[in-house]
Amino acid sequence: MTEPLYITTPIYYVNARPHLGHAYTTIVADVISRFADMKKQDCFFLTGTDEHGDKIVRAAKKENMTPREYVEKISSLFKNLWPELSIENSCFIRTTDQSHIKVVEEVLQKIYDSGDIYFAEYEGQYCFGCERFYAERELLNGKCPDHGSEPEIIKESNYFFKMSKYQQWLIDHIKQNPEFIRPERYKNEVLSFLKEPLEDLCISRPKSRLKWGITLPFDEDYVTYVWFDALLNYVSALGYPDGALYKKYWPHAQHIVAKDILKPHGIYWPTILKSAGIPPYKHLNVHGFWNVDHGKMSKSIGNVVEPLQMKNIYGTDAFRFFLIRDMVFGLDSDYSEQAMVQRLNTDLANDLGNLFSRVIAMVHKYFKGIVPRVDLVLEQEMELGLKKDAFNAVSCFESSMENFSFHKAMIALWEFISKMNKYVDVTAPWVLAKQKSTRKQLEAVIYNLLEGLRIVSGLIYPVMPDTSKNMQKHLGLNPETSFFNLDLLRSWDVITPGTQLPKGITLFPRIDFEKIQMERIENSPSVPVQNKKLTEITLEEFFKVDLRAATVMKAEIIPRAKKLLKLEVDMGEIRTIVAGIAKDYTPEELVGKQVVVVANLKPVKIMGILSSGMVLAASENGVYSITTLDKNVTPGTPLR
Ligand code: MSP
Repeated sequence: MTEPLYITTPIYYVNARPHLGHAYTTIVADVISRFADMKKQDCFFLTGTDEHGDKIVRAAKKENMTPREYVEKISSLFKNLWPELSIENSCFIRTTDQSHIKVVEEVLQKIYDSGDIYFAEYEGQYCFGCERFYAERELLNGKCPDHGSEPEIIKESNYFFKMSKYQQWLIDHIKQNPEFIRPERYKNEVLSFLKEPLEDLCISRPKSRLKWGITLPFDEDYVTYVWFDALLNYVSALGYPDGALYKKYWPHAQHIVAKDILKPHGIYWPTILKSAGIPPYKHLNVHGFWNVDHGKMSKSIGNVVEPLQMKNIYGTDAFRFFLIRDMVFGLDSDYSEQAMVQRLNTDLANDLGNLFSRVIAMVHKYFKGIVPRVDLVLEQEMELGLKKDAFNAVSCFESSMENFSFHKAMIALWEFISKMNKYVDVTAPWVLAKQKSTRKQLEAVIYNLLEGLRIVSGLIYPVMPDTSKNMQKHLGLNPETSFFNLDLLRSWDVITPGTQLPKGITLFPRIDFEKIQMERIENSPSVPVQNKKLTEITLEEFFKVDLRAATVMKAEIIPRAKKLLKLEVDMGEIRTIVAGIAKDYTPEELVGKQVVVVANLKPVKIMGILSSGMVLAASENGVYSITTLDKNVTPGTPLR
């Protein structure tokens, strides 16, 4: 009997909408939980939202809402997003839940009574962004390493948790349990931090400064520091201390977090647990960060990737697949929509999708859609190794998943898919179909391919659950039966000969990225100024946009694109620009005009043409009016 599993994600701050990073961690947890299904392992999967603290108060204020109204709104964005991404969490915890608050109070009281919490005056450098004090050595050139801002000196009396008391215990525990924090680089990071004396943790905030938090059970004038409150979600959600879920799952707890919150999870949390007399979690699994187009994802840069938007364009399974395939768990990865499209077209549309439709089409063409019967002796004689390859793929997939090497699990699976594609080429069923004498061989080949696809359908289940079911339906299997069970994936001859298969389908249509980009440009809404929330920028920020006068030298229609014109403009250098103004301007009208161009816009390929810049135009009810200059100037003259 396999042990149960308890898997958790961080509980996300509700100061901003969910983005790619939140989606990644939660998808990974879902993949692990579905992999547990494959092993018939009982798994409890927790996610939720972190709703107290200064960050939330400030975000609510910006929106002219009370903290309570605000947390309701954002928390439900997270809660409602997960089913959209096929994430099936067992529980969604909120730190404003009464049951959670009660546990925080109980644990605080317990630790206070044991003497591990004391009251003291403290003067230190406080970063409001991080909501914590910083020791001098932790600052980078005197600034917060995360926010780049100078911390403020704050002097106040507060409650402290005796974290230092548990430093040696923690070092010993990590050394005795080398897999406690993994991958190893993060374990080493924590150990190296623990080489310096550990300071005690300030766990309170005076209500004069912050009211939005859990009141300390032993002092009405203070609220609990948000991390002390948040970390306890992992036990409060299970009904600590007496709940049946707590007793069953806590001994098997595995947390998943990114490297940004290694310290609270690798240091604060185990020491809090130790002091409260709760056994430590089993593993802390730490992953890296998704950067976007080689830079940090940030609201101010405007490159935040919205998971729902990606799902709506590319589909849930495809989006999940890309995230799992393209990040090595533990390392940083770069997200770009273009790279994603490339991956989806190659791996999903070409390799898997084409194979699937080809095989199903052959069942229909050669066997009227009925799964052929196989002459086993002949099959052995023809030994082309597909069965062996399939079982190898299953075992490689399994060991990679166990090691959190999700990308390797996908690589193993795609190696098998590529072997199946080769198997089709080598056995050439269309040749076998030509003669009666090779009919039995044709039956064996097609049956083997169907079995191979069945195994693929089971192995993709954790990452692409809908496609898994869809494939099974088309293989004549009942998707409600757990055809993803590893036991079944280690068996052959599972599909019953004689089964009538439904007509073929396209699992993944090819994506035309240029078309998506064009549609985006064409459909970008123009909001009336009075309704638009204007984001103020500084002059310095404005000057980052390099506007130049440019003379149109050539203009031509792009075949197949009704709205586009290809322009050649002189702006000190000759540039090609694709502009969506073909409905409102003829090429002849444009030549000779002096227009305004955004010169430092990242080039994009539109309809196969590299467009380096953008012509400014006003758009009203879909009609464009381009910006021209009143007097002619030297091409390339900057606009200020
Ligand atoms: N509320 C705390 C966690 C408390 S857990 C007891 C918090 N919240 S957060 O909203 O900032 O979420 C941080 C987590 O979101 C990261 O640890 C990671 O799981 C995920 N990610 C946020 N940005 C990310 C990337 N750019 N890339 C990958 N994951 C990232 O910290």
